[in-house]
Amino acid sequence: MKKFLAFACSIATLAFAAVASGQFTSGAYRRGTGRTKPSLRLRTSRQIRGTPISSGAASLHSEARVETARLNVVGRDAELAAVAEFAALGAPGARGLLLVGDAGFGKTTLWREGVGAFRREGARVCLAGPAESERDLPFAALHDLLAKLLDEVGGELSEPHRGALDAALLRSTSESAADRLAVSLAVLDLLRAASRHGALVLAIDDVQWLDRPSAAALEFSLRRLESASVSLLGTLRPDGASGLLGLAADSVLRVDVGPLPAADLGRIVEARSG
Ligand SMILES: Nc1ncnc2c1ncn2[C@@H]1O[C@H](COP(=O)(O)OP(=O)(O)O)[C@@H](O)[C@H]1O
Ligand SMILES: [Mg+2]
Repeated sequence: MKKFLAFACSIATLAFAAVASGQFTSGAYRRGTGRTKPSLRLRTSRQIRGTPISSGAASLHSEARVETARLNVVGRDAELAAVAEFAALGAPGARGLLLVGDAGFGKTTLWREGVGAFRREGARVCLAGPAESERDLPFAALHDLLAKLLDEVGGELSEPHRGALDAALLRSTSESAADRLAVSLAVLDLLRAASRHGALVLAIDDVQWLDRPSAAALEFSLRRLESASVSLLGTLRPDGASGLLGLAADSVLRVDVGPLPAADLGRIVEARSG
């Protein structure tokens, strides 16, 4: 019964989102402001569909969110191809992909596929899924995103940087509040250190809900990473924050996630009720 209710809610959300937008077209794909089609289709949704997402560097909380998502993705061929192409790029340098759309349109679903695609490419993926209710908790998102990475690579940081991050993430007994510049420098140091071992991905679902201190530390770092192989894979509501988190606009691919076409909604209903 619980399962049925959850399923019914999902469909209702999707259908409502589609109707509310007044259109039944799938999301467009664009870089900067010019709309284009994906130049290269590396994988279709059929090939990506249903692939289990393995575990990796991430907080337990966020990892659980991804692990429970083994739903089939219906439609979204262009969006999935864009995500897969981005994951396969492997080029050095800080860059990002943002899935932008209203609530219920399927951003998280595509984001999870992106996490899986990056992992299949061998990247280390750090996860965070901040909630609106956590916006006032300083460094909550940074904890989700980087605590495990700090365990793994923290030995390569200088003592002050390690100490600053331990304080910010409440992993030390220090009474003093985390110094924000020291935390930002430490995050930069940590991301640089981790990226020396291979491609690193910061996967953030709902970038707009990042608590301000976490967002500021990430912005500070991503602006300075230059040639380090660090990617941002984010989802974002269309209103409000730019979501760039310090990355140059021309190094961030924006994938608009519009409402699903009615035919795809029908396929979801069929697949889940069968
Ligand atoms: N392409 C899709 N195929 C199958 N189910 C989908 C698809 N897109 C969204 N859903 C379902 O619709 C619901 C809302 O999607 P979600 O990704 O959470 O949206 P958002 O993150 O934009 O709020 C979820 O239950 C999800 O499983
Ligand atoms: Mg979501």
